[in-house]
Amino acid sequence: MDRPLNIANEAEMLAFGSKLAATLCPNLTIYLIGDLGSGKTTLVRGILHGLGYKGVVKSPTYNLVEIYKISRLYLYHFDFYRFNDPIEWEEAGFRDYFNCDSVCLVEWPEKANGLLPTADLQITIDIPESGREINVHAGTEAGKKCLTHW
Ligand SMILES: Nc1ncnc2c1ncn2[C@@H]1O[C@H](COP(=O)(O)OP(=O)(O)OP(=O)(O)O)[C@@H](O)[C@H]1O
Ligand SMILES: [Mg+2]
Repeated sequence: MDRPLNIANEAEMLAFGSKLAATLCPNLTIYLIGDLGSGKTTLVRGILHGLGYKGVVKSPTYNLVEIYKISRLYLYHFDFYRFNDPIEWEEAGFRDYFNCDSVCLVEWPEKANGLLPTADLQITIDIPESGREINVHAGTEAGKKCLTHW
């Protein structure tokens, strides 16, 4: 997507997530980049609502990952803010979560530097004076394919 998107408020962020959900297919890794409180978890909530998930969407701040199974799709929502030990990566089996049946949404991917697969999509959220600004960048052919369905 060449142009930044202006997202005025939380409701618009949820709506953006729902719209994004319609473009997703399995075997995707999506990095969510933005400061604390920029709206990464809110965006994931919108994606899950868009996929028809009716339950509570918790921030994975303490567990590092929240797991959702929606129909045949596995969605893993990571938050690596508190991650600091690559051994934990192996022991928790995170590597196996990035597979051809899953969509992995990753908050704070910078903290797991070098362990994560390349991002198919990188979504950056900036905080201007009001609302949020979103930039979406496709890093792979699979990511580009998603954006053609936008
Ligand atoms: N477009 C928007 N404009 C203004 N406020 C927003 C917008 N989108 C989300 N918010 C608000 O910003 C806050 C974002 O919280 P959220 O937990 O989603 O951030 P986060 O990026 O996941 O933070 P963390 O890095 O701590 O996990 C919420 O209070 C939400 O209502
Ligand atoms: Mg969050």
